[in-house]
Amino acid sequence: MYKKVAFSLLAAVAAVSAADASDVHQLTKDTFDDFVKTNDLVLAEFFAPWCGHCKALAPEYEEAATSLKEKDIKLAKVDCTEESELCQSFGVEGYPTLKVFRGKDNITPYSGQRKANAITSYMIKQSLPAVSILSSETLEDFKTADKVVLVAYIDASDKSSNETFTALAEKLRDSYPFGASNDAALAEAEGVKAPAVVLYKQFDEGKATFTEKFDAEAIESFAKTASTPLIGEVGPETYSGYMSAGLPLAYIFAETSEERKELGDALKPLAETYRGKINFATIDAKAFGAHAGNLNLKTDKFPSFAIQETVKNQKFPFDQEKEITHDAIKKFVDEFSSGKMEPSIKSEPIPETQEGAVTVVVAKNYNDVVLDDKKDVLIEFYAPWCGHCKALAPKYEDLAALYAASEFKDKVVIAKVDATANDVPDEIQGFPTIKLYPAGGKKEPVTYSGSRTVEDLITFVKENGKYKAEVSEKSAEETPVAPAATESTSSEAAEETHDEL
Ligand SMILES: *[C@@H]1O[C@H](CO)[C@@H](O)[C@H](O)[C@H]1NC(C)=O
Repeated sequence: MYKKVAFSLLAAVAAVSAADASDVHQLTKDTFDDFVKTNDLVLAEFFAPWCGHCKALAPEYEEAATSLKEKDIKLAKVDCTEESELCQSFGVEGYPTLKVFRGKDNITPYSGQRKANAITSYMIKQSLPAVSILSSETLEDFKTADKVVLVAYIDASDKSSNETFTALAEKLRDSYPFGASNDAALAEAEGVKAPAVVLYKQFDEGKATFTEKFDAEAIESFAKTASTPLIGEVGPETYSGYMSAGLPLAYIFAETSEERKELGDALKPLAETYRGKINFATIDAKAFGAHAGNLNLKTDKFPSFAIQETVKNQKFPFDQEKEITHDAIKKFVDEFSSGKMEPSIKSEPIPETQEGAVTVVVAKNYNDVVLDDKKDVLIEFYAPWCGHCKALAPKYEDLAALYAASEFKDKVVIAKVDATANDVPDEIQGFPTIKLYPAGGKKEPVTYSGSRTVEDLITFVKENGKYKAEVSEKSAEETPVAPAATESTSSEAAEETHDEL
């Protein structure tokens, strides 16, 4: 952080010399080909000077270029406003676009994080052969080449283990550096007997060993488990990894790094017990406290603890009146793990009476109303702050009144739910979202994408519902064509609805 501030200040003061001092090579159509021919490995950024993401990347890219210089990995950039033909010839469609060049013909996209350390570590991996052959001289350096590295100890005659490991390394080369040795003495010195894989890591217990039958899938799953820190940290860079890990995530919310460390240490034995079954991670409650709300925790009381079942998106908040101790959390996690714990569901109370024509749905009556198999149910997912929802409200009320006064009053339900105050099973991308759950077809709801007029909504209900229920509008002066744009969720709202950080 401070480094970046210092950098931009310096850049402002000494703009001219900064350009000269850059380790990023600016290329043109006249220099590009030669550059990628004479440098084995090049990362090229195609940018436009006006592009905000490019500006944000610039200091990170500069930092990566400097740290990769000594490894002879070159970072280049091309200004596409000046070199439009060159950029077009590489199919550049947006800015910034980053591509890895191994000569002119071997080009692969870079789609990692636009951060100096992510770029640096990615390019180092690219510079290594998929498997580096190691000796007693090179092993020690290799062990610390990245946060996590994998080394196989294989007999020189064991072709099959060699092939399995090499194929896996090709597949996962973007994830870890792979090394191998057929030196039996080296294996012995590392405490294993060939064939074996040792994962060296710069955290937790330092290494983990795989000694089962050499099987690509088994080694991959070993690597995934052993490379996940016992107590990790949830943040923008790690969140999607945790969400896609297929394991429940246990969050330790705390406001200071001292407290996160303290609680993490206290819960480490639990994380060890549940390794490979539940991921444990701390989260900075000062920066991401709002995320506690997504787990049905209060957002003003820390430290706190919750488990998220990431596959079904169920939430299990730990009682915030209780103290977070190893024993209390152990009891909680054991119960969760036994499958006997009920998930917490955020819900407004079920309305005692339905006041208007639009049926008010909350989490607690969602199944009874929306999944009533005898009825066609049109449901609007809204947010109280959403302008398009407010604009729709009177029309939606008219629509509901028309059905309520028709022969279909017991067959068609027009409903709405405040999706910010109720946990709904639907994945909502924006507000309002309108879906029809047809009678006899509750597993296949249809999402509405037409314009938000009473007329079009009636057509939608008629065409997609079981009862083909059509009502006619009495009022002649329906205002035509409301904007159909879905209000995209704001960043806070995205947290609310997508559990994104
Ligand atoms: C695996 O096989 C390749 C190709 O034959 C060979 O170059 C390499 O040394 C072998 N690896 C080990 C650890 O023996």
